[in-house]
Amino acid sequence: MQRTLLIIKPDAVEKRLIGKIISMVEEHFNIVGIRMKRLTPQEAREFYRVHRGKDFYEGLVEFMSSGPSVGVLIEGDNVIEKLREFIGSTDPRKAKKGTIRNLFGTTVRYNAVHASDSEESASYEIPFYFPSIE
Ligand code: RTP
Ligand code: MG
Repeated sequence: MQRTLLIIKPDAVEKRLIGKIISMVEEHFNIVGIRMKRLTPQEAREFYRVHRGKDFYEGLVEFMSSGPSVGVLIEGDNVIEKLREFIGSTDPRKAKKGTIRNLFGTTVRYNAVHASDSEESASYEIPFYFPSIE
């Protein structure tokens, strides 16, 4: 059994896509938590610390703290890989048809959602939205 974190990013919240995205995810995954919050720039910096120093890092931090986002906690067998597959490639133009990023993303930065990419990142990322979970 695994847990993973989906984030509905500020671009998708701004476009009022929360319901549509949660509805698609709920059809295929077990949702065990939902929380809306605006990351502070410091939290966004820490959340994406693996990208520190890359040319897109500052823009990414600014974007992720620009407005509210929604953390969705998902549980199930092999859900980390399954959810990554379900959201599609980072670049919405390359994401497979029918994936969340294909349907709702616009550019590499404004790609609608995030999903943890390993057990290690899931454990690091989940507390940003669900600090009191075991
Ligand atoms: P995420 O972490 O958000 O789930 O996305 P990912 O694993 O598919 O992609 P990653 O390489 O971890 O990049 C994190 C986020 O940074 C923004 N980004 N911008 N060249 C660029 O302008 C660029 N590259 C990445 C995206 O918002 C990406 O989701
Ligand atoms: Mg990533």
